Amino acid sequence: MDNQKPLVVITGASRGIGLALCRFYLERHCDVVAVVRKTSVDLDALGVEVIEHIDVTRSHDVAELQRTLRGRHIAILINNAGLFHNETLEQMDFEAIEQQLNVNAIAPIRVTHALQDNLSTGSKVAMITSRMGSIADNGSGGYVGYRMSKAALNAASVSLAHELKPKGVALALLHPGFVQTQMVNFAGDVSPEVAANRLAARIAELNLDNTGSFWHANGELLPW
Ligand SMILES: NC(=O)c1ccc[n+]([C@@H]2O[C@H](COP(=O)([O-])OP(=O)(O)OC[C@H]3O[C@@H](n4cnc5c(N)ncnc54)[C@H](OP(=O)(O)O)[C@@H]3O)[C@@H](O)[C@H]2O)c1
Repeated sequence: MDNQKPLVVITGASRGIGLALCRFYLERHCDVVAVVRKTSVDLDALGVEVIEHIDVTRSHDVAELQRTLRGRHIAILINNAGLFHNETLEQMDFEAIEQQLNVNAIAPIRVTHALQDNLSTGSKVAMITSRMGSIADNGSGGYVGYRMSKAALNAASVSLAHELKPKGVALALLHPGFVQTQMVNFAGDVSPEVAANRLAARIAELNLDNTGSFWHANGELLPW
């Protein structure tokens, strides 16, 4: 009966929110596939299936991920891998901007494209975005590359939501909150475990009627 378990695929699972999501779905008796560049002691301790050496920005690696998962139905695909820098007019770093566009905006589309044959009626896709990608919500500036990359992810994801809907696949854009991870030097106000619980609650509520929505993990709808 093991192959009846829902399969949850999570990128950026070596630490932080991705690792907490792996633990969450493992404890809910799902089959979890953790997609990482390099595994970690914490991930190995979970005992989930790990697909290593996948840099989500590299087409060769994502093709390898596609081959490894061929023929397996994915219940939930969580595009979580992300990169965060700060650029301002005074402190500009175009290389960092390009990297963030690659990791945060293009890679989730690359991965979803590669795994589309694994998705069918009832499958769900979660894009872990950020409210920093909201243009309407930008009241403080800075973070040029991160904001651009998450806004681009949001724009592209709405297109994917439209395309996936006739296939019975729903997609959500989810802001996890300000989460205590390495990305923010552990300065967040919620733990990765709390964020994972909240994200999973949003994914549970996701359906074909609310597909394409941009939510805070706490359930609040966010402005574009
Ligand atoms: N923490 C927050 O407050 C916050 C707020 C809003 C949104 N988010 C979003 O939440 C998601 C998870 O972030 P986090 O806070 O858990 O950050 P984190 O602790 O820094 O983890 C980021 C994960 O992404 C992976 N990653 C980065 N570049 C990659 C690449 N090229 N290929 C494959 N994996 C890559 C990292 O893997 P390596 O170990 O290989 O580097 C790591 O597993 C991100 O999308 C982030 O933008 C976080």
